[in-house]
Amino acid sequence: MAKQTIELRVNGDRYEVAVDPWRTLAEVLREELRLTGTKIGCNQGDCGACTVLLDGRSVSSCLTLAVEAHQREITTIEGLAPSPDHLHPLQQAFVQHGAVQCGFCTPGMILAAKHLLENNPQPTEQEIRRGLGGNLCRCTGYNKIVEAVQAAAQELAAGKEG
Ligand code: FES
Ligand code: FES
Repeated sequence: MAKQTIELRVNGDRYEVAVDPWRTLAEVLREELRLTGTKIGCNQGDCGACTVLLDGRSVSSCLTLAVEAHQREITTIEGLAPSPDHLHPLQQAFVQHGAVQCGFCTPGMILAAKHLLENNPQPTEQEIRRGLGGNLCRCTGYNKIVEAVQAAAQELAAGKEG
């Protein structure tokens, strides 16, 4: 089957790429656009390592065909920090709370948390655990991740008030 030329809008930049119709968004982000912050773990929708935002909703990019993302807005971990010198509050909180060990789950975890906080800015602990239920971490035991998301929620709320 012939390649298709698609336009991907990633972190505010536009890319035109010719892709085989069966290639996943995760593969194209990593291999064509060199945005390797998006990780591929299970490659079958179980681990959440490949989570990105597609039109603001968190999706498993290993289960999303690149052609499905044509002319849609994609956010990857590379697009989160407001500037090279400043981390996003979620990234900062993950660092401060020791919620990163090997780091493999972290990009997907943070994007899932971003989606969660946009829909529920003050989640309970249980809501955070449920919201991140599709993202697996083999290192941290999850408590530090939950603490980091709680801290980021407070930080973001304070920013909105201030
Ligand atoms: S790599 Fe996509 S869910 Fe595991
Ligand atoms: S920090 Fe290693 S998998 Fe989560």
